[in-house]
Amino acid sequence: NVLILDFGSQYTQLIARRVRELNIYCEIHPYHKIPANLDPFKAVILSGSPFSVRSDDAPHPDLSAIKGKKPLLGVCYGAQYLAHFYGGKVAPSATREYGRANLSIVKDEAKLFDEITENTQVWMSHSDTIKDLPVGGKRLASTSDVLNAAYRIDGEDTYAIQFHPEVYHTTEGKRLLENFLVHIAGVEQSWTPAAFVDTTVEELKQKVGADKVVLGLSGGVDSTVAAVLLHKAIGKNLYCIFVNNGLLRKDEFESVLDQYKDMGLNVKGVDASARFLKALKDEADPEAKRKAIGKTFIEVFDDEAHEITDVTYLAQGTIYPDVIESVSVNGPSVTIKSHHNVGGLPDFMKLKIVEPLRMLFKDEVRRVGAELGIDKTLLGRHPFPGPGLAIRILGDITAEKVRILQEVDAIFINGLREWGLYDKVWQAGAILLPVNSVGVMGDERTYEKVVALRAVESTDGMTADWVNLPYEFLQKTSNAIINRVKGVNRVVYDISSKPPATIEWE
Ligand code: XMP
Repeated sequence: NVLILDFGSQYTQLIARRVRELNIYCEIHPYHKIPANLDPFKAVILSGSPFSVRSDDAPHPDLSAIKGKKPLLGVCYGAQYLAHFYGGKVAPSATREYGRANLSIVKDEAKLFDEITENTQVWMSHSDTIKDLPVGGKRLASTSDVLNAAYRIDGEDTYAIQFHPEVYHTTEGKRLLENFLVHIAGVEQSWTPAAFVDTTVEELKQKVGADKVVLGLSGGVDSTVAAVLLHKAIGKNLYCIFVNNGLLRKDEFESVLDQYKDMGLNVKGVDASARFLKALKDEADPEAKRKAIGKTFIEVFDDEAHEITDVTYLAQGTIYPDVIESVSVNGPSVTIKSHHNVGGLPDFMKLKIVEPLRMLFKDEVRRVGAELGIDKTLLGRHPFPGPGLAIRILGDITAEKVRILQEVDAIFINGLREWGLYDKVWQAGAILLPVNSVGVMGDERTYEKVVALRAVESTDGMTADWVNLPYEFLQKTSNAIINRVKGVNRVVYDISSKPPATIEWE
């Protein structure tokens, strides 16, 4: 187990993911909440930070229980912190260093740079520089602009690097982390999907015992993996509810429900389409639509949960990024957040909570899903927003508009699959615009709807770029849509990146 102390860097989660990729378990804790019991942690990593160590309001935690006592690696701010507070000197750099740099490695007995090539590319992002090393400091590497790009402290397992080993552009960053964690700190590489499944199933058995658990399935990866894990632990005492809000993709409710049943899950499909449509009637404002859907979902779920007698637990597919930041920006998981809730707490929200995935990153959820034998197509599905097609129908929502968009979306998505493009795209969908345009079909003038197609590449939905889909694919798709979907006479392709645009149109 490895402790990552977060000083607020945008890359902290990336450090954790790189460590996990080495099959090593790690936890991120904020710098001002260092765990009282450090025994479980075999090594500690200090993250970067947007602060300057020289500033009074910068994070200045007491590291006396860690430094010199546990293997310690300071990254960027972490490296500067170790210099600034232990007898070295940090000053503003003459030139700020951002981006690519190449390391010149000093020969040393330390293993940090073992098998890392001379001149290896690293990624820098800092405006302060370490002028003097701390007491006992031995330089390990420099770049053309930064003399002290890496150092260690003599007589301790303390290491510090100015660059970011966690980012993709630091070519041998993972090797460096492995050198530190495995070869210096001696941490075991035993965090595998199989080990996670074994221990989690055992923990769930202990925790839940013979009690009943209710879980909302969404068709997405997180809720599905959570359900299969729980099912493995407690079998038929897991009651799954899968709500059709009428805003899913074409035929999705039926096909996903069948898949769930094939997996042996005890699942009840509830078709509440009419109830959602009613709640959305005449609602055109994006946030109001989201609220109406959230509220209706909670009502439907609460009604269904009441049908099950003596439930003790509510299971959720919460994943680690939600826990760290407490805000979930993407993903289809049915995470029930208190802010959805207007008025008193519905009864199911008074249940005890069980969140089997709360320590996993998204890619780990997929690996665990594969370990559990969940179908590859289900695990590889694009993210789909909770409010579904409601936020892809701009303006108010009617049954007819939902039908049109479902048809268009199905042609687009099936086309991506047929052309082998589906897995190259992070997320794709169609948007029904609130305008009509003039067209001609045969000798007839038409005045019908416009749809936009959107396909983006991304890693986490925070930033995204449009995908350069083949013209021939776009041409065939556009033809198919206009010929087959009644009510549409024009197709456009969205070529905006995020930022400044967003992935969804509302
Ligand atoms: P944006 O449009 O903000 O989308 O660039 C980023 C990611 O979040 C998804 N998204 C949502 N997911 N409820 C959700 O569960 C929502 O209200 C919502 N809005 C956007 C979007 O599909 C993309 O993956």
